[in-house]
Amino acid sequence: MRNTIRWGLLSTANINRRLIPAIRASQRGELVAVASRSQASANQYAATWAIPHAFGSYEAMLASDEIDAVYIGLPNHLHAHWSIRAMELGKHVLCEKPFALTLDEVEAMIATAHATGRVLAEAFMYRHHPQTKIVGDWVRTGRLGDISLVRGIFNFAFTSRDNIRLVPEWGGGCLWDVGIYPLSFAQFVMGGPPEWVSGAQWLGESGVDETFAGQMVYPGGRLAQIASAFRTPFQTYFEVIGTAGRLYLNKPFVGLEENRQLLFYPAGGDPQEIPVPEQALYAGEVADMHAAILDGQPPYLTLAETRNHIRTCLALYQSARTRQTVAL
Ligand SMILES: NC(=O)c1ccc[n+]([C@@H]2O[C@H](COP(=O)([O-])OP(=O)(O)OC[C@H]3O[C@@H](n4cnc5c(N)ncnc54)[C@H](OP(=O)(O)O)[C@@H]3O)[C@@H](O)[C@H]2O)c1
Repeated sequence: MRNTIRWGLLSTANINRRLIPAIRASQRGELVAVASRSQASANQYAATWAIPHAFGSYEAMLASDEIDAVYIGLPNHLHAHWSIRAMELGKHVLCEKPFALTLDEVEAMIATAHATGRVLAEAFMYRHHPQTKIVGDWVRTGRLGDISLVRGIFNFAFTSRDNIRLVPEWGGGCLWDVGIYPLSFAQFVMGGPPEWVSGAQWLGESGVDETFAGQMVYPGGRLAQIASAFRTPFQTYFEVIGTAGRLYLNKPFVGLEENRQLLFYPAGGDPQEIPVPEQALYAGEVADMHAAILDGQPPYLTLAETRNHIRTCLALYQSARTRQTVAL
């Protein structure tokens, strides 16, 4: 029995830069391989990041006995195929968001995890951060009273238009890319998916949504409003509004290491800053994978939650296309 997990990176994606230090800083993981569509690119990446093994195809790394788990930071339309292939070849999988682009794909991924006994988890790093868990605790213990509304936004602007996020058939679009952050946070606060949704989008020249606004209605008349964009400067926030006050997060999703504030505005009182323990943003999802693989602990972010993230995104897109509300 191994007591550490040997990781392989499936592609040389930009986002790997966040995972590499998290794996290296963890007590129970080591980074042993990278795979790319070309051997030259894998070799160069391995040299740059001091990774021992470089594979010139994804298939070759997945067939290797040198790795136990893979991190999938591929374009969105490839998540399902390569997650399934990795599990079929005996590897555990941490797959980036959005997990997949259809419910059929999500269900095939979950079925493969069950059939192979491999750990499969969605890489929503902010869900593992203490700040997010504090918000969940405050909601569940009733410190905000009855929740009536949550609101969140995630916008940024491209430096170059040559980006996987602008290709429609690759799962481009700002809701899939960044709107899914406030969407998933709303689902976490509300404890499940909405009953119905209404979405509106502005499509850019490549045909993907570059601005998206969504409203979600949950049991008991609780509401969420989310927005995302590729066309305006970087901006994020999230707030949870209840009858006893509201929590406001200036950095709910990314950049939590600097100038992060979690503020409580009590009904009829002065705002208070809530202390949040420090934790590297990508450390939690890596530690959670290790606990799931090595200790048999259920992943913190369940596949049922992940499935509902995708259901809700699909319903919002359907609503935006048809200009009708959509029931889940
Ligand atoms: N959780 C987070 O904080 C976070 C942040 C950013 C992105 N993400 C997610 O991570 C994923 C990757 O995003 P990214 O910005 O890192 O992507 P990226 O830099 O464009 O990298 C994607 C990689 O996929 C591989 N690839 C395979 N087929 C491809 C194709 N047809 N076209 C282009 N690349 C292809 C390429 O690697 P090879 O050439 O080596 O094969 C490429 O380096 C997305 O799902 C995104 O949503 C998550």
